[in-house]
Amino acid sequence: MESPTPGRRPVIVGNWKMHRTVRESVELVDRLKPLVGASGHCDIVVAPPFTALWAAARAAEGSPIAIAAQDLYWESQGAYTGEVSAGMVAEAGCRFAILGHSERRSLFGETSRAVSRKAAAALEAGLTPIVCLGETLSERESGRTETVIGTRFRQSLDGLTEDALYRTMIAYEPVWAIGTGRAATPEMAQDVHALIRGLAAEVFGRQAAEQLPILYGGSVKPENVDGLLARADIDGALVGGASLKAESFAAIVDFQV
Ligand code: PGA
Repeated sequence: MESPTPGRRPVIVGNWKMHRTVRESVELVDRLKPLVGASGHCDIVVAPPFTALWAAARAAEGSPIAIAAQDLYWESQGAYTGEVSAGMVAEAGCRFAILGHSERRSLFGETSRAVSRKAAAALEAGLTPIVCLGETLSERESGRTETVIGTRFRQSLDGLTEDALYRTMIAYEPVWAIGTGRAATPEMAQDVHALIRGLAAEVFGRQAAEQLPILYGGSVKPENVDGLLARADIDGALVGGASLKAESFAAIVDFQV
């Protein structure tokens, strides 16, 4: 099996979506801590809802678990009712921000241009953006995967510098694989990850592209994580459903390649 490029440390991210109250989030972090305490081989990140970020970050102190926001707004403050800024989530204890998730794009009309502004704001606040992109089933079936990934990549990272790419992660999430139990095969995922790394090299240069962590997301489970992470350009996983139980998330963190 191919092994990950030295220098690209694996990253496992749990996206809790709109699950877990403050109390439940603290409980989940507390359950995870002893299970992942000895995992020095990868970075571990969980993304609770906004309301639980501060409490989850406090609960995770002294453990290898870092906290991510699931979204943010690009302005730093102002009359933007309902929005939360990058500085606010950073102060709450976040080090990462998931941006442009397909649910934000499809349910809330988020465009790639908006994602690029959010990524810039995240970087400005010292956060690592995890920029998500993927194709829908109809886009894949009509042979448009390459084109739509190319467009979404360029637009979602528009305006970012090469230096910014060193502080950015990408998550490839085929929309048809999210929450369906039907993950992409390692081969399918590897093909798109290699495509994304090639795009990154075109836009930001080969060196920046080589160190870019590209995570796969979409029905990742303890049973399929090893095969996915064994592929050369798959550097980690963005996990939804299976991140909501400490045991299954810890089993994913425990992947073997
Ligand atoms: P899933 O979600 O693991 O439940 O498919 C992944 C995601 O939406 O990030």
